Amino acid sequence: MAKSLFIKTYGCQMNVYDSNRMTDILAPLGYEASSTPDGADMVILNTCHIREKAAEKVFSELGRLRALKQAKQQVGESMILAVAGCVAQAEGEEITRRAPYVDMVFGPQAYHRLPEMVARASRQAGAVLDTDFPVESKFDHMPDSATVENSTAFLTIQEGCDKFCTFCVVPYTRGAEFSRPVADVLDEARRLRDAGAREITLLGQNVNAYHGTTGNGTERGLGSLIREVAQIEGIDRIRYTTSYPAEVDDELIEAHRDVPELMPFLHLPVQSGSDRVLSAMNRRHNAGQYRDLVERLRAARPDIGLSSDFIVGFPGERESDFEETMDLIRDVGFLQAFSFKYSPRPGTPAAGMPNQVDENVKSRRLASLQALLIEQQTKFNAGCVGRSMPVLLEKFGRHEGQLVGRSPYMQAVHVQAPAHMLGDIEVLHMDSAGENSLAATLVNAAGIASKDVSADAHSARKMAQTV
Ligand code: 5AD
Ligand code: SF4
Repeated sequence: MAKSLFIKTYGCQMNVYDSNRMTDILAPLGYEASSTPDGADMVILNTCHIREKAAEKVFSELGRLRALKQAKQQVGESMILAVAGCVAQAEGEEITRRAPYVDMVFGPQAYHRLPEMVARASRQAGAVLDTDFPVESKFDHMPDSATVENSTAFLTIQEGCDKFCTFCVVPYTRGAEFSRPVADVLDEARRLRDAGAREITLLGQNVNAYHGTTGNGTERGLGSLIREVAQIEGIDRIRYTTSYPAEVDDELIEAHRDVPELMPFLHLPVQSGSDRVLSAMNRRHNAGQYRDLVERLRAARPDIGLSSDFIVGFPGERESDFEETMDLIRDVGFLQAFSFKYSPRPGTPAAGMPNQVDENVKSRRLASLQALLIEQQTKFNAGCVGRSMPVLLEKFGRHEGQLVGRSPYMQAVHVQAPAHMLGDIEVLHMDSAGENSLAATLVNAAGIASKDVSADAHSARKMAQTV
Protein backbone atom coordinates (compact mmCIF):
# COMPACT_ATOMS: atom_id res chain seq x y z
CA MET A 1 0.00 0.00 0.00
CA ALA A 2 1.26 3.50 -0.81
CA LYS A 3 2.74 5.42 2.09
CA SER A 4 2.70 9.17 2.17
CA LEU A 5 5.78 11.34 2.38
CA PHE A 6 5.86 15.02 3.25
CA ILE A 7 9.09 16.97 2.76
CA LYS A 8 9.34 20.53 3.97
CA THR A 9 12.18 22.36 2.25
CA TYR A 10 13.96 25.38 3.64
CA GLY A 11 16.65 27.54 2.04
CA CYS A 12 18.33 27.36 -1.32
CA GLN A 13 17.64 25.60 -4.61
CA MET A 14 20.20 22.94 -3.73
CA ASN A 15 17.80 21.87 -1.00
CA VAL A 16 14.87 21.89 -3.42
CA TYR A 17 16.92 19.64 -5.69
CA ASP A 18 17.86 17.35 -2.78
CA SER A 19 14.20 17.11 -1.70
CA ASN A 20 13.19 16.05 -5.21
CA ARG A 21 15.91 13.41 -5.29
CA MET A 22 14.84 12.13 -1.85
CA THR A 23 11.32 11.77 -3.24
CA ASP A 24 12.73 9.80 -6.20
CA ILE A 25 14.85 7.58 -3.95
CA LEU A 26 11.94 6.78 -1.62
CA ALA A 27 9.47 6.01 -4.43
CA PRO A 28 10.58 2.36 -4.83
CA LEU A 29 9.93 1.90 -1.11
CA GLY A 30 6.30 2.82 -1.70
CA TYR A 31 6.40 6.46 -0.61
CA GLU A 32 4.35 9.01 -2.53
CA ALA A 33 4.76 12.74 -2.11
CA SER A 34 2.04 14.45 -0.11
CA SER A 35 1.40 18.15 0.27
CA THR A 36 0.63 17.96 3.99
CA PRO A 37 2.26 16.44 7.06
CA ASP A 38 -1.18 15.44 8.41
CA GLY A 39 -1.36 11.69 8.43
CA ALA A 40 1.98 11.32 6.62
CA ASP A 41 3.97 8.11 7.16
CA MET A 42 7.23 9.99 6.83
CA VAL A 43 8.03 13.65 7.35
CA ILE A 44 11.42 15.08 6.40
CA LEU A 45 12.49 18.60 7.28
CA ASN A 46 15.18 19.56 4.76
CA THR A 47 16.85 22.38 6.64
CA CYS A 48 19.01 25.41 5.96
CA HIS A 49 21.61 26.85 8.30
CA ILE A 50 22.69 29.93 6.38
CA ARG A 51 21.06 32.59 8.48
CA GLU A 52 19.78 33.26 11.94
CA LYS A 53 17.38 31.23 14.00
CA ALA A 54 17.50 28.30 11.59
CA ALA A 55 17.93 25.76 14.37
CA GLU A 56 15.23 27.34 16.53
CA LYS A 57 12.76 27.23 13.64
CA VAL A 58 13.52 23.54 13.18
CA PHE A 59 12.96 22.80 16.86
CA SER A 60 9.62 24.59 16.92
CA GLU A 61 8.48 22.80 13.74
CA LEU A 62 9.57 19.50 15.32
CA GLY A 63 7.42 20.30 18.36
CA ARG A 64 4.36 20.59 16.10
CA LEU A 65 5.21 17.42 14.20
CA ARG A 66 5.67 15.51 17.44
CA ALA A 67 1.95 15.99 18.12
CA LEU A 68 1.08 14.54 14.68
CA LYS A 69 3.38 11.61 15.32
CA GLN A 70 1.76 10.93 18.69
CA ALA A 71 -1.70 11.12 17.15
CA LYS A 72 -0.70 8.42 14.66
CA GLN A 73 0.80 6.27 17.38
CA GLN A 74 -2.44 6.47 19.36
CA VAL A 75 -4.27 4.75 16.54
CA GLY A 76 -1.58 2.08 16.23
CA GLU A 77 0.19 3.65 13.25
CA SER A 78 3.63 5.18 12.97
CA MET A 79 5.35 8.18 11.47
CA ILE A 80 9.05 8.38 10.65
CA LEU A 81 10.29 11.85 11.48
CA ALA A 82 13.56 12.99 9.91
CA VAL A 83 15.75 16.08 9.88
CA ALA A 84 17.97 16.48 6.81
CA GLY A 85 20.12 19.25 5.33
CA CYS A 86 22.55 21.70 6.81
CA VAL A 87 21.09 22.11 10.32
CA ALA A 88 21.21 18.32 10.64
CA GLN A 89 24.83 18.38 9.48
CA ALA A 90 25.84 21.15 11.87
CA GLU A 91 23.74 20.23 14.90
CA GLY A 92 22.99 16.53 14.51
CA GLU A 93 23.90 15.50 18.07
CA GLU A 94 21.96 18.41 19.52
CA ILE A 95 18.84 17.39 17.59
CA THR A 96 18.96 13.80 18.81
CA ARG A 97 19.39 15.10 22.37
CA ARG A 98 16.74 17.81 22.35
CA ALA A 99 14.21 16.00 20.18
CA PRO A 100 14.63 12.29 20.98
CA TYR A 101 11.39 11.48 19.12
CA VAL A 102 13.18 12.22 15.82
CA ASP A 103 13.97 8.97 13.99
CA MET A 104 16.60 10.01 11.47
CA VAL A 105 19.09 12.87 11.29
CA PHE A 106 21.26 13.08 8.20
CA GLY A 107 23.36 15.63 6.35
CA PRO A 108 23.24 16.68 2.68
CA GLN A 109 25.83 14.07 1.71
CA ALA A 110 23.85 11.08 2.98
CA TYR A 111 20.46 11.06 1.29
CA HIS A 112 21.39 8.22 -1.06
CA ARG A 113 21.53 6.03 2.07
CA LEU A 114 17.90 6.83 2.91
CA PRO A 115 16.50 3.36 2.15
CA GLU A 116 19.04 1.82 4.51
CA MET A 117 18.32 4.46 7.17
CA VAL A 118 14.57 3.85 6.88
CA ALA A 119 15.14 0.15 7.47
CA ARG A 120 17.34 0.86 10.46
CA ALA A 121 14.93 3.42 11.87
CA SER A 122 12.09 0.92 11.85
CA ARG A 123 14.28 -1.69 13.60
CA GLN A 124 16.16 0.29 16.21
CA ALA A 125 15.07 2.50 19.08
CA GLY A 126 16.59 6.01 19.10
CA ALA A 127 17.63 8.12 16.15
CA VAL A 128 19.71 7.03 13.18
CA LEU A 129 22.39 9.71 12.84
CA ASP A 130 24.30 10.05 9.55
CA THR A 131 26.36 13.21 9.23
CA ASP A 132 29.61 11.81 7.83
CA PHE A 133 31.11 13.06 4.62
CA PRO A 134 31.15 9.70 2.81
CA VAL A 135 33.82 8.66 0.35
CA GLU A 136 31.28 7.39 -2.14
CA SER A 137 29.25 10.05 -3.90
CA LYS A 138 25.53 10.31 -3.36
CA PHE A 139 25.31 11.13 -7.05
CA ASP A 140 26.37 7.58 -7.94
CA HIS A 141 23.16 6.31 -6.39
CA MET A 142 20.71 8.29 -8.41
CA PRO A 143 17.47 6.51 -9.38
CA ASP A 144 16.66 6.30 -13.09
CA SER A 145 13.46 8.27 -12.86
CA ALA A 146 13.17 11.93 -12.06
CA THR A 147 10.56 14.27 -10.63
CA VAL A 148 9.91 17.42 -12.63
CA GLU A 149 7.37 20.03 -11.68
CA ASN A 150 6.28 22.91 -13.86
CA SER A 151 8.55 22.10 -16.86
CA THR A 152 11.54 23.42 -15.03
CA ALA A 153 14.11 21.41 -13.10
CA PHE A 154 17.18 21.85 -10.98
CA LEU A 155 20.27 19.79 -11.65
CA THR A 156 23.11 19.80 -9.13
CA ILE A 157 26.45 19.72 -10.96
CA GLN A 158 28.74 20.87 -8.17
CA GLU A 159 28.61 20.79 -4.42
CA GLY A 160 30.54 22.20 -1.53
CA CYS A 161 32.70 25.28 -1.28
CA ASP A 162 36.37 25.95 -0.52
CA LYS A 163 36.13 29.72 -0.54
CA PHE A 164 35.54 30.27 3.17
CA CYS A 165 33.91 33.66 3.09
CA THR A 166 34.23 34.62 6.74
CA PHE A 167 30.46 34.96 7.29
CA CYS A 168 29.40 31.67 5.71
CA VAL A 169 28.68 28.20 7.13
CA VAL A 170 28.50 26.43 3.77
CA PRO A 171 32.13 25.21 3.65
CA TYR A 172 31.48 23.55 7.01
CA THR A 173 28.06 22.02 6.27
CA ARG A 174 28.47 21.05 2.62
CA GLY A 175 32.17 20.20 2.67
CA ALA A 176 34.85 20.60 0.01
CA GLU A 177 34.19 21.44 -3.65
CA PHE A 178 33.17 18.47 -5.75
CA SER A 179 32.14 18.37 -9.42
CA ARG A 180 30.08 15.64 -11.05
CA PRO A 181 31.50 14.06 -14.21
CA VAL A 182 30.22 15.57 -17.47
CA ALA A 183 28.56 12.34 -18.65
CA ASP A 184 26.55 12.05 -15.40
CA VAL A 185 25.32 15.60 -15.73
CA LEU A 186 24.29 15.07 -19.36
CA ASP A 187 22.53 11.78 -18.52
CA GLU A 188 20.57 13.46 -15.78
CA ALA A 189 19.71 16.40 -18.03
CA ARG A 190 18.25 13.94 -20.56
CA ARG A 191 16.29 12.16 -17.81
CA LEU A 192 14.88 15.49 -16.65
CA ARG A 193 14.00 16.37 -20.24
CA ASP A 194 12.24 13.01 -20.61
CA ALA A 195 10.29 13.78 -17.43
CA GLY A 196 9.09 17.07 -18.96
CA ALA A 197 11.76 19.68 -18.21
CA ARG A 198 12.24 22.38 -20.84
CA GLU A 199 14.31 24.57 -18.58
CA ILE A 200 17.24 23.35 -16.52
CA THR A 201 19.01 25.29 -13.81
CA LEU A 202 22.50 23.98 -13.15
CA LEU A 203 23.22 24.22 -9.44
CA GLY A 204 26.29 24.47 -7.29
CA GLN A 205 27.21 26.24 -4.08
CA ASN A 206 29.96 27.76 -6.15
CA VAL A 207 28.87 26.71 -9.61
CA ASN A 208 31.80 28.52 -11.26
CA ALA A 209 34.18 26.08 -9.59
CA TYR A 210 32.72 23.34 -11.80
CA HIS A 211 35.41 21.23 -13.43
CA GLY A 212 33.88 17.90 -14.38
CA THR A 213 35.87 15.03 -15.80
CA THR A 214 35.16 13.63 -19.25
CA GLY A 215 35.59 10.07 -20.54
CA ASN A 216 39.09 10.81 -21.84
CA GLY A 217 40.42 12.19 -18.57
CA THR A 218 40.24 15.88 -19.48
CA GLU A 219 38.19 18.41 -17.55
CA ARG A 220 35.39 20.72 -18.60
CA GLY A 221 34.48 24.06 -17.08
CA LEU A 222 30.99 25.49 -16.69
CA GLY A 223 30.96 27.37 -20.02
CA SER A 224 31.80 24.24 -21.93
CA LEU A 225 29.26 22.17 -19.97
CA ILE A 226 26.55 24.70 -20.81
CA ARG A 227 27.34 24.33 -24.51
CA GLU A 228 26.86 20.55 -24.19
CA VAL A 229 23.58 20.82 -22.27
CA ALA A 230 22.33 23.24 -24.92
CA GLN A 231 22.87 20.50 -27.55
CA ILE A 232 20.25 18.30 -25.89
CA GLU A 233 17.10 18.36 -28.00
CA GLY A 234 14.14 19.64 -26.01
CA ILE A 235 16.07 21.70 -23.49
CA ASP A 236 15.30 25.26 -24.49
CA ARG A 237 16.38 27.25 -21.49
CA ILE A 238 19.47 27.00 -19.32
CA ARG A 239 20.28 28.89 -16.14
CA TYR A 240 22.93 28.39 -13.48
CA THR A 241 23.43 29.46 -9.91
CA THR A 242 25.10 30.36 -7.53
CA SER A 243 28.01 32.28 -8.95
CA TYR A 244 31.19 33.37 -7.24
CA PRO A 245 32.38 36.47 -9.15
CA ALA A 246 36.11 35.80 -8.77
CA GLU A 247 35.74 32.49 -10.60
CA VAL A 248 33.66 33.61 -13.57
CA ASP A 249 35.99 32.89 -16.50
CA ASP A 250 36.18 33.91 -20.17
CA GLU A 251 34.79 30.59 -21.30
CA LEU A 252 31.60 31.27 -19.36
CA ILE A 253 31.32 34.83 -20.60
CA GLU A 254 31.70 33.50 -24.15
CA ALA A 255 28.89 31.01 -23.50
CA HIS A 256 26.67 33.99 -22.67
CA ARG A 257 27.64 35.46 -26.02
CA ASP A 258 27.14 32.31 -28.08
CA VAL A 259 24.49 30.07 -26.51
CA PRO A 260 20.94 31.30 -27.14
CA GLU A 261 19.49 28.76 -24.69
CA LEU A 262 21.46 30.39 -21.87
CA MET A 263 19.03 32.92 -20.40
CA PRO A 264 20.17 36.55 -20.25
CA PHE A 265 19.83 36.69 -16.50
CA LEU A 266 22.54 36.10 -13.94
CA HIS A 267 22.53 35.97 -10.16
CA LEU A 268 25.96 37.33 -9.27
CA PRO A 269 26.31 37.90 -5.52
CA VAL A 270 28.57 40.83 -4.66
CA GLN A 271 27.76 41.08 -0.91
CA SER A 272 29.21 44.59 -0.49
CA GLY A 273 30.49 47.53 -2.52
CA SER A 274 33.29 48.35 -0.07
CA ASP A 275 36.77 46.95 -0.65
CA ARG A 276 37.50 47.03 3.09
CA VAL A 277 34.44 44.94 3.85
CA LEU A 278 34.98 42.61 0.89
CA SER A 279 38.48 41.93 2.10
CA ALA A 280 37.29 41.26 5.67
CA MET A 281 34.72 38.91 4.16
CA ASN A 282 37.56 37.09 2.38
CA ARG A 283 35.77 37.56 -0.94
CA ARG A 284 38.38 37.29 -3.64
CA HIS A 285 37.05 40.22 -5.64
CA ASN A 286 36.93 43.92 -4.98
CA ALA A 287 34.25 46.34 -6.11
CA GLY A 288 36.23 47.45 -9.19
CA GLN A 289 36.71 43.87 -10.34
CA TYR A 290 33.00 43.24 -9.92
CA ARG A 291 32.11 46.31 -11.99
CA ASP A 292 34.61 45.15 -14.62
CA LEU A 293 33.09 41.71 -14.74
CA VAL A 294 29.64 43.20 -15.25
CA GLU A 295 31.02 45.24 -18.16
CA ARG A 296 32.51 42.13 -19.75
CA LEU A 297 29.25 40.22 -19.36
CA ARG A 298 27.31 43.12 -20.89
CA ALA A 299 29.75 43.34 -23.77
CA ALA A 300 29.17 39.64 -24.46
CA ARG A 301 25.41 39.66 -23.95
CA PRO A 302 24.08 43.22 -24.07
CA ASP A 303 20.59 42.34 -22.81
CA ILE A 304 21.84 40.49 -19.72
CA GLY A 305 20.06 41.36 -16.48
CA LEU A 306 21.65 40.96 -13.07
CA SER A 307 20.58 40.03 -9.59
CA SER A 308 22.72 39.83 -6.49
CA ASP A 309 23.04 39.13 -2.75
CA PHE A 310 23.94 41.83 -0.25
CA ILE A 311 24.88 41.66 3.41
CA VAL A 312 24.59 44.82 5.49
CA GLY A 313 26.15 45.32 8.90
CA PHE A 314 29.11 42.99 8.45
CA PRO A 315 31.47 43.49 11.44
CA GLY A 316 33.35 46.78 11.04
CA GLU A 317 31.06 48.12 8.28
CA ARG A 318 31.06 51.93 8.55
CA GLU A 319 28.53 54.32 7.13
CA SER A 320 30.97 55.12 4.30
CA ASP A 321 31.30 51.41 3.45
CA PHE A 322 27.55 51.13 3.30
CA GLU A 323 27.38 54.15 1.01
CA GLU A 324 29.85 52.43 -1.32
CA THR A 325 27.43 49.51 -1.53
CA MET A 326 24.61 51.91 -2.39
CA ASP A 327 26.82 53.50 -5.08
CA LEU A 328 27.57 50.12 -6.58
CA ILE A 329 23.85 49.30 -6.73
CA ARG A 330 23.14 52.64 -8.45
CA ASP A 331 25.98 52.13 -10.95
CA VAL A 332 25.31 48.51 -11.86
CA GLY A 333 21.49 48.39 -11.74
CA PHE A 334 19.89 45.14 -10.57
CA LEU A 335 16.64 43.62 -11.78
CA GLN A 336 16.13 41.98 -8.40
CA ALA A 337 18.22 41.07 -5.37
CA PHE A 338 18.32 39.40 -1.99
CA SER A 339 19.60 41.35 0.96
CA PHE A 340 20.26 40.37 4.54
CA LYS A 341 21.42 41.74 7.85
CA TYR A 342 24.68 40.10 8.82
CA SER A 343 23.97 37.29 11.26
CA PRO A 344 26.86 35.71 13.15
CA ARG A 345 27.06 31.99 12.41
CA PRO A 346 28.71 30.02 15.22
CA GLY A 347 32.11 28.68 14.22
CA THR A 348 32.69 31.13 11.35
CA PRO A 349 35.54 33.69 11.61
CA ALA A 350 33.32 36.77 11.34
CA ALA A 351 31.25 35.70 14.35
CA GLY A 352 34.31 36.35 16.54
CA MET A 353 35.33 39.65 14.93
CA PRO A 354 35.31 42.82 17.03
CA ASN A 355 33.15 45.79 15.95
CA GLN A 356 29.91 43.89 15.50
CA VAL A 357 27.38 46.36 14.16
CA ASP A 358 24.42 47.44 16.26
CA GLU A 359 21.13 45.75 15.27
CA ASN A 360 19.34 49.09 14.82
CA VAL A 361 22.04 50.29 12.45
CA LYS A 362 21.76 47.05 10.48
CA SER A 363 17.98 47.44 10.24
CA ARG A 364 18.26 51.04 9.06
CA ARG A 365 20.85 50.17 6.40
CA LEU A 366 18.84 47.18 5.22
CA ALA A 367 15.72 49.32 4.85
CA SER A 368 17.47 51.94 2.67
CA LEU A 369 19.22 49.30 0.60
CA GLN A 370 15.98 47.39 0.01
CA ALA A 371 14.14 50.58 -0.90
CA LEU A 372 16.73 51.26 -3.61
CA LEU A 373 16.63 47.69 -4.91
CA ILE A 374 12.81 47.65 -5.01
CA GLU A 375 12.87 50.95 -6.88
CA GLN A 376 15.18 49.43 -9.50
CA GLN A 377 13.13 46.25 -9.72
CA THR A 378 9.84 48.13 -10.12
CA LYS A 379 11.38 50.39 -12.77
CA PHE A 380 12.69 47.44 -14.72
CA ASN A 381 9.31 45.69 -14.59
CA ALA A 382 7.54 48.87 -15.70
CA GLY A 383 10.01 49.22 -18.57
CA CYS A 384 8.92 45.80 -19.85
CA VAL A 385 5.36 47.00 -20.46
CA GLY A 386 4.68 47.26 -24.19
CA ARG A 387 7.33 44.69 -25.07
CA SER A 388 6.96 41.06 -26.07
CA MET A 389 8.96 38.32 -24.37
CA PRO A 390 9.08 34.53 -24.56
CA VAL A 391 7.55 33.11 -21.39
CA LEU A 392 7.73 29.50 -20.17
CA LEU A 393 4.19 28.75 -18.95
CA GLU A 394 4.82 26.79 -15.78
CA LYS A 395 1.58 26.42 -13.86
CA PHE A 396 -2.07 27.33 -13.44
CA GLY A 397 -2.78 30.72 -11.93
CA ARG A 398 -5.22 31.48 -9.15
CA HIS A 399 -7.89 32.73 -11.55
CA GLU A 400 -9.99 30.70 -13.95
CA GLY A 401 -8.23 30.24 -17.32
CA GLN A 402 -5.01 31.84 -16.10
CA LEU A 403 -1.49 30.49 -16.55
CA VAL A 404 1.65 31.74 -14.83
CA GLY A 405 5.08 31.61 -16.34
CA ARG A 406 8.57 33.08 -16.19
CA SER A 407 10.17 35.57 -18.51
CA PRO A 408 13.86 35.21 -19.45
CA TYR A 409 14.50 37.57 -16.51
CA MET A 410 12.69 35.30 -14.01
CA GLN A 411 9.79 37.72 -13.68
CA ALA A 412 6.47 36.01 -12.92
CA VAL A 413 4.05 36.65 -15.79
CA HIS A 414 0.26 36.09 -15.63
CA VAL A 415 -1.74 35.47 -18.78
CA GLN A 416 -5.20 34.24 -19.83
CA ALA A 417 -4.34 31.23 -21.98
CA PRO A 418 -5.70 27.77 -22.77
CA ALA A 419 -4.61 24.94 -20.46
CA HIS A 420 -2.95 23.02 -23.31
CA MET A 421 -0.27 25.73 -23.42
CA LEU A 422 1.06 24.62 -20.04
CA GLY A 423 4.73 23.72 -20.52
CA ASP A 424 5.01 25.79 -23.72
CA ILE A 425 7.20 28.79 -24.33
CA GLU A 426 4.89 31.45 -25.74
CA VAL A 427 5.67 34.98 -26.81
CA LEU A 428 3.58 37.29 -24.67
CA HIS A 429 2.89 40.97 -24.86
CA MET A 430 3.44 42.68 -21.50
CA ASP A 431 0.43 44.83 -20.59
CA SER A 432 1.05 45.95 -17.04
CA ALA A 433 3.62 45.54 -14.29
CA GLY A 434 3.82 45.53 -10.51
CA GLU A 435 6.70 45.20 -8.09
CA ASN A 436 6.79 41.41 -8.35
CA SER A 437 4.99 40.37 -11.51
CA LEU A 438 3.68 41.27 -14.94
CA ALA A 439 0.35 40.74 -16.66
CA ALA A 440 0.42 39.84 -20.35
CA THR A 441 -1.59 38.71 -23.35
CA LEU A 442 -0.81 36.14 -26.01
CA VAL A 443 0.82 37.30 -29.23
CA ASN A 444 -0.78 35.28 -32.00
CA ALA A 445 1.17 35.88 -35.17
CA ALA A 446 4.56 34.20 -34.95
CA GLY A 447 6.06 36.63 -37.47
CA ILE A 448 5.28 39.66 -35.36
CA ALA A 449 6.46 37.88 -32.26
CA SER A 450 9.96 37.02 -33.47
CA LYS A 451 10.53 40.54 -34.73
CA ASP A 452 9.48 41.92 -31.37
CA VAL A 453 11.83 39.62 -29.53
CA SER A 454 14.93 40.80 -31.34
CA ALA A 455 13.88 44.39 -30.80
CA ASP A 456 13.62 43.46 -27.13
CA ALA A 457 17.28 42.60 -26.79
CA HIS A 458 18.09 46.16 -27.63
CA SER A 459 15.65 47.74 -25.20
CA ALA A 460 16.60 45.30 -22.40
CA ARG A 461 20.19 46.42 -22.69
CA LYS A 462 19.21 50.03 -22.49
CA MET A 463 16.97 49.37 -19.54
CA ALA A 464 19.48 47.27 -17.66
CA GLN A 465 21.95 50.10 -17.88
CA THR A 466 19.59 52.90 -16.99
CA VAL A 467 17.70 51.45 -14.03
N1 5AD B 1 24.59 36.54 7.50
C1 5AD B 1 23.82 37.16 6.57
N2 5AD B 1 23.71 36.71 5.30
C2 5AD B 1 24.41 35.62 4.97
N3 5AD B 1 24.50 34.96 3.81
C3 5AD B 1 25.32 33.91 3.98
N4 5AD B 1 25.76 33.87 5.25
C4 5AD B 1 25.21 34.92 5.89
C5 5AD B 1 25.31 35.44 7.20
N5 5AD B 1 26.06 34.85 8.12
C6 5AD B 1 23.85 35.40 2.58
C7 5AD B 1 24.88 35.79 1.51
C8 5AD B 1 24.80 34.65 0.54
C9 5AD B 1 23.34 34.26 0.67
C10 5AD B 1 23.00 32.90 0.16
O1 5AD B 1 23.07 34.34 2.05
O2 5AD B 1 24.48 37.00 0.91
O3 5AD B 1 25.16 35.01 -0.77
FE1 SF4 C 1 29.57 30.68 1.28
FE2 SF4 C 1 29.31 31.31 -1.31
FE3 SF4 C 1 31.39 32.25 0.11
FE4 SF4 C 1 31.27 29.64 -0.54
S1 SF4 C 1 31.49 31.39 -1.96
S2 SF4 C 1 31.84 30.47 1.46
S3 SF4 C 1 29.07 29.27 -0.38
S4 SF4 C 1 29.21 32.73 0.41
